[in-house]
Amino acid sequence: MRELLTRLETTTRLDPLSDRMQRSVMSLLRGQRIRDILHGVWLGHPLHPALVQLPIGAWFSAAVLDLLPNQRRAATVLLGVGTVSALPAAVAGANDWASQSREQRRVGLVHALANSTGLLLFSGSLAARLTGRHGVGRLLSMLGLAAAGGGAYLGGHLAYKQAAGVNHGVPELNLIEDGWHPIADLATLPEATLLTRQLNDVSVVVYRDGDEITVMLERCAHQSGPLGQGEVVRVDGKTCVVCPWHGSTFQLGGGEVVHGPAGTDQQVLPTRVIGGVLEARLP
Ligand code: FES
Repeated sequence: MRELLTRLETTTRLDPLSDRMQRSVMSLLRGQRIRDILHGVWLGHPLHPALVQLPIGAWFSAAVLDLLPNQRRAATVLLGVGTVSALPAAVAGANDWASQSREQRRVGLVHALANSTGLLLFSGSLAARLTGRHGVGRLLSMLGLAAAGGGAYLGGHLAYKQAAGVNHGVPELNLIEDGWHPIADLATLPEATLLTRQLNDVSVVVYRDGDEITVMLERCAHQSGPLGQGEVVRVDGKTCVVCPWHGSTFQLGGGEVVHGPAGTDQQVLPTRVIGGVLEARLP
């Protein structure tokens, strides 16, 4: 299985289809607001993994009820709930997928294909049950569970092996030693200029706005893009940095994500000034 997944990650055969679908998803979900909602910016957490709990739970529960006597009606209701709730989960997943790396998109494409097959089979099962063919409905449900199970396995591979949807900045905190670390002489820090400094082996961005100084991990939470090469902009009166790779936007004060595709905040570090030297430490 591992060998198969490695081959899937590295095969270039899916790329023409993947690129076409990426363009289609991007043009269908064009509005920044809708894309941010689907990325989970408002939640501070990717939305897709949260939404998939409902269809998976409903479909699996329907399969359990199929094994019990006199539960046809309840199983049909659960199947309907799972089928309807799968649609927003799929849209949120497609929105995340369109901003992923090429290797992640290859696996994501097969993940989507398996889940679409599952959705089709569960829809067929629902139609069969609503027309009184419960035996066919049960069979289609079992096949649907198998397809959705394969999709879930690939989703796990995307999250835990390929780090899709996780905060790419946070593991860098493990490289920072406890205690306060000098960053720069305060007198040498220019106003309103994005600087990059090293803290142990970790790259951080430093931004001074009057008395307020931000020290933030440089590697973008989304896919490790270099925020030090980003643009400083004002969004709703707040000073933010825009990642040069896919445009995730974070407030420079506290690291809050303002626009995706990042679904989580960017890590900032506590600071202090001692003897004219700016210092930072682990949160
Ligand atoms: S790496 Fe994708 S937005 Fe920063």
